[in-house]
Formats: sequence, structure tokens, C-alpha cells
Amino acid sequence: MDKFTYHNPTRIHFGEGQIAAIANDIPKDKKVLVVYGGGSIKHNGVYDQVANALSGHQWDEFSGIEPNPQYDTLMQAVAKVKEGGFDFLLAVGGGSVVDGTKFISAAARFAGNDPWDILAKQQPVVDAVPLGCILTLPATGSESNAGSVVSRGKDKLFFMSPLVQPIFAVLDPSTTLSLSPRQVANGVIDAYIHVMEQYLTFPANAKVQDRFAEGLLMNLIEEGPKALATPNDLAVRANIMWSATQALNGLIGVGVPQDWTTHMIGHELTGNYGIDHARTLSIILPAVMKQRRADKAEKLLQYGERIFGITEGSNDERIDAAIAKTIDFFKTMEVPTCLADVELDSTAIDPVMESLEKHGMTVLGERGNVTLTESRAILETAL
Ligand code: NZQ
Ligand code: ZN
Repeated sequence: MDKFTYHNPTRIHFGEGQIAAIANDIPKDKKVLVVYGGGSIKHNGVYDQVANALSGHQWDEFSGIEPNPQYDTLMQAVAKVKEGGFDFLLAVGGGSVVDGTKFISAAARFAGNDPWDILAKQQPVVDAVPLGCILTLPATGSESNAGSVVSRGKDKLFFMSPLVQPIFAVLDPSTTLSLSPRQVANGVIDAYIHVMEQYLTFPANAKVQDRFAEGLLMNLIEEGPKALATPNDLAVRANIMWSATQALNGLIGVGVPQDWTTHMIGHELTGNYGIDHARTLSIILPAVMKQRRADKAEKLLQYGERIFGITEGSNDERIDAAIAKTIDFFKTMEVPTCLADVELDSTAIDPVMESLEKHGMTVLGERGNVTLTESRAILETAL
């Protein structure tokens, strides 16, 4: 295990009715801009709960943040923040709203010429508007991490800054009951693959991280299908919501090698073809497991044994079985597991390769050996 410093400053309010807690978390002298998406919060009662909680505050709202939040829309919010003198942002929605609000927070206080440079040139964020969030879609982990992913045309880029990490996050599982089955499945799969990116690498003798990661994977395998079969079961939603937060709040990633090949290729699939984030991952991860099986052999065997009880056969057979079980789970969650499942063929690969190169994604993986040649091989394996 490598040395590390761990600090997660986001205060979590978990459980039914916890939206009310924000009243005390946002100082009364702050001018609050509530940021949300396409309107789901108007239909499931979340907006009304937010309005009640903010009754003692001065606040206004900005709506229309899209899935895969778009730079141009976010810049309209930045203009509103500056003109209105807002000094606190409250994101209410899924990962896209939280990520978008993080970018608004940084861009509104950006001293350079072009806020796009925060993403494209990784210009450092030295000031940001403080923000909190109310999460309505368990998936990304954005509610308690420092990352944000923003899109502009075919470019889907990320930045990280501790200054945009939410001060608080409300996780009320009952807000997730209005999700469509597709979004429920997407969330479970995104969380699962966040764990895999930090777990399926090479052994680092990091037993806490490994066992914790395996626990999250097992919870998601157990609870994910239940969320589709019995969509009104709040206990199931609660376990999924807390698993998704833990999957990407930094804890399981400390002191261990991390991969993120699946995500980096996945972002280019979304940028080029508009495929939902999680569905790019369920397409690419099986191909990464197949293509990188030699580098990942020890962890693939551990994963197969501890998650699926695979102990019989040669190492190769056990790895094959672990990959097959993973694909079975994805199919149970009704997500695509190859490019053909989303009507893409080999002609789809070149544009993705061009995007990877343009974005400097030329050396990926926990060993830094996933070159463009390897990424192409992964995409071909994903056909
Ligand atoms: O816009 P509204 O009307 O709210 O509808 C949304 C949206 O259409 C809807 N939704 C959200 N909560 C709902 C609901 N519908 C009914 N009931 C509810 N309770 O769901 C749709 C999708 O929402 P979105 O926020 O796009 O989904 P998700 O949370 O999966 O976020 C995906 C984005 O996060 C990024 C992805 O790349 C993508 O842009 N990621 C961010 C990460 C991070 N910051 O750490 C890591 C991830 O790997 C990921 O890259
Ligand atoms: Zn993800």
C-alpha cells in the first residue's frame, strides 16, 4: 500500500426528510442560486422540499442543466451568478447537475480569459463559489468528491479541485423512487465500475480497500436487480445510494493503483455518440477485462473467487468465468455489453481514437501501458 493523506470534507445528511437539514448548513446571509436539470425535481416533490428548507434564505434558481452538462448552458448560469451576486450554489439533481454546478462555481470566480481552459488546459482553480448538493440519482459519487465532467460538442472533459467539492450532500433515498428503470440501472452500473476502476488492477496488499471494494460490489450485485424488480422498496434504494457514494468518495482508492481506462474511453463514446455514461462503461469494461487479462490476472482471480465463488479450473478458465459472470450481471441490469448492442460497428472506432488522441488520452491504465494501440484493441474487442 502506498502512503496517502485522506480527507473527505463533505457532510452527509442521509435518509428520508433530510432535505430540511440544509436550512442550517447554508449561512443565512448567503444569496443562494438553486441549480437543477430538466424538471424531474418539480414532479417528485423535491423542489417543494427545497423551497421549504430555504424559506429563511434569499434565493433564486437556474434550471435546464442537461445530462452530460453542456458548457454553453453552464456559462449562462455563470453570467447569472455574477450579475446576481450569488455567493452560494445549491445543486439539486443527478451527477450532471452536481458536476455542472461545480463548473459554474469555478468558472464564476475564474480570473483567466476563458473558463474552458479549466477543462481543456487544466488551469488551476484558485477560487470558487461554495456549494452544496441534494442528490436525486445515486451513480457518480460527485456528491462527495472533487471531480466534475463537462461537455462541449464532442469534447467531454474533466477537472478536479478541492474548492468545488460539496460542503454538504443530502442523500434521501426516497427522492430516487421517481427514477426510470434505465436511470436506476445506469446508476448501479456506474457505481460498480467506479469500484472496478480502483480495484481491478494489481495487488497492493491493501486489505481494507480490497475488502471494502468487494463489499460494495456484492451489495450492488445483490441490490441492483431488486431495484428493478421491486422499484418501490426504499431499503433497496438506500443501500444502493450509500454504495454509490462510497464507491467514489476516495476511500477505496487511497494508497492503491487505479485504472480508469474504461472511463476515459467511455467519455469519448458519449462525446461522439451520445451514449449514456454508464452504458459506455458496461460496453467497455468487459473488453478491458479480456484485453488486459494478463496485467490484471491476480486481481481477476481474487475478484472471481471473492465475488462469484469461482475456485475451480485453471487460472485461464477462472478468469473467463469471472468475465462471463460480470457480463451476466450487466445483462441482468439490462445494459448493453458490446458496441453492437447500441448499433455501432467497426466504423465507430476511428472517431473515438481521434478523440482520445486529441484529449491526450494516449497512456492509460494502472501500469501506464494502455497506449492508443491498446485502446484500439479494447474497442475492437468491444465490437
Ligand atoms: O434533468 P432532470 O429532469 O433532473 O432529469 C435527470 C436526467 O434526465 C434524471 N433524473 C435525475 N434524478 C431523477 C431523475 N429523474 C427522475 N427522478 C429522479 N430522482 O436522470 C437523467 C440523468 O441524470 P444525470 O445527472 O445525467 O445522470 P448521472 O447521475 O448518471 O450523471 C452522469 C454524469 O456524471 C458524469 C458523467 O460523465 C455524466 O456526465 N460523471 C461524473 C463523475 C464525478 N463527478 O465524479 C464520475 C462519473 O464517472 C461520471 O463521469
Ligand atoms: Zn462513472
